[in-house]
Amino acid sequence: MRQALVLAAGKGTRMKSKLPKVLHEVLGKSMVQHVVDNLRAADVKRIIVIIGHGAELVEEKIEGVEFVYQLEQLGTGHAVMQAEQLLAQEGGTTMVICGDTPLIQASTIAQMFEHHENAQAKTTVLTAQMANPTGYGRIIRDENHQLAYIVEQKDANEAELAVQEINTGTYCFDNQELFAALAKIDNKNAQGEYYLTDVIKIMREANHRLEGYCIENADETLGINDRLALAQATTLLRERLNTAHMINGVTLVDPATTYIGTDVIIGADTIIYPGSVILGTTTIGEDCIIGPNTQLTNATIGANTHITQSVISDSSVGETATVGPFAHLRQATACGNHVRIGNFVEMKKTTFADHAKASHLSYLGDSEVGENVNIGCGVVTVNYDGQHKHKTTIEANAFIGCNANLIAPITIGEGVYVAAGSTVTKNVPADALAIARAKQENKEGYAKRLRERFAKK
Ligand code: UD1
Ligand code: CA
Repeated sequence: MRQALVLAAGKGTRMKSKLPKVLHEVLGKSMVQHVVDNLRAADVKRIIVIIGHGAELVEEKIEGVEFVYQLEQLGTGHAVMQAEQLLAQEGGTTMVICGDTPLIQASTIAQMFEHHENAQAKTTVLTAQMANPTGYGRIIRDENHQLAYIVEQKDANEAELAVQEINTGTYCFDNQELFAALAKIDNKNAQGEYYLTDVIKIMREANHRLEGYCIENADETLGINDRLALAQATTLLRERLNTAHMINGVTLVDPATTYIGTDVIIGADTIIYPGSVILGTTTIGEDCIIGPNTQLTNATIGANTHITQSVISDSSVGETATVGPFAHLRQATACGNHVRIGNFVEMKKTTFADHAKASHLSYLGDSEVGENVNIGCGVVTVNYDGQHKHKTTIEANAFIGCNANLIAPITIGEGVYVAAGSTVTKNVPADALAIARAKQENKEGYAKRLRERFAKK
């Protein structure tokens, strides 16, 4: 049985933010969500998040976990004690991890559990070697290199301060022994806090087996306390993820300016140009060309599609399509294969079937557009009457002339031809021509006479 406690009750004063620290985002995902996702990927079934500052907000943002309130932040040991009610009856291993360490990988978490269980330890501390250990708790080992205790920076003597092996703040505990030891800790220390780290000392006195598991890549353990570390975390995670995509056969023309989230999938031979930000659960097929300066959030893009300087969120585009420059697709817009969506076209809640085209300057909202439809330059679906949104249906093979306004609710039948400049208010039956504009009148010679009159004045 594996369970985890995520410590996320602290205020994060140094962020200087209205938002609770753990909700600040790294590549489009809150840091605590990174931690939760990494635990899940390491097959930890039960996850309990300890919340305090901004608890309601944190609770709202994370799904599929249990929450425990720590009303006053009296220290990391006190924080863990709040979960006693939930965990007292459990056996197995409990990981304690901080909500502000989004870079600790699932593989590291899994290895730590394995190391702990194989060693039959009562505590395993994830440690790291730091050239500058200032601020961290120091790992003190005995003459046999066994973990003896952890001392906080503020409580340490000179010899202890010189130690460069630090406590990363991630641990595996024998669940029963954890709560037994926590019952014995006090707050007689420099910070007047209940230190979780004091359980190590208590377990050692009881002759329990303790392990220090030193991580090779200390970068993983970066804890985010301020906006500088937040930016550093983004850089480190971006480099890690971009490297993996390039190894998988994706070309990133400039990885330094390409931001790809943890849950993005990209097919081989896709090329991504600079300035692109690809986040959420976006999936991109093979042989696509994306960017430059393209923003994709929860987008699904079929193979061989080109997207230039565009924004797509919560929407999909099929295969062999072209989008942009400067298109905006949003709110469950679904475009088929071989579509063409050109400059300054916006689509909202619209389905746009195979081979349909909207090449310039259009707004399509709450619309259903059939196969092969051609949307002329400047066509607007008039979907909003100031109170409600209404639907526009354009059936297959229709041709909508330039600058037409389609006043919804309306249905344009199959094969219809809408004359340019029409304001269409009534349904149009299949194969009809709809023309709805004032008749033109030419006044012969009138312009010339007008010029002559002006010249005389
Ligand atoms: C802690 C460790 C230190 C380690 C460091 C790594 C202790 C006593 N010290 O120190 O050895 O090197 O982490 O970053 O544990 N939290 C709560 N409730 C509280 C206090 C803290 O939920 O009452 C949470 C914070 O939100 C944070 C985490 O616990 O996510 C760590 O707390 P923090 O105060 O940053 O601990 P450090 O002093 O850095
Ligand atoms: Ca800290």
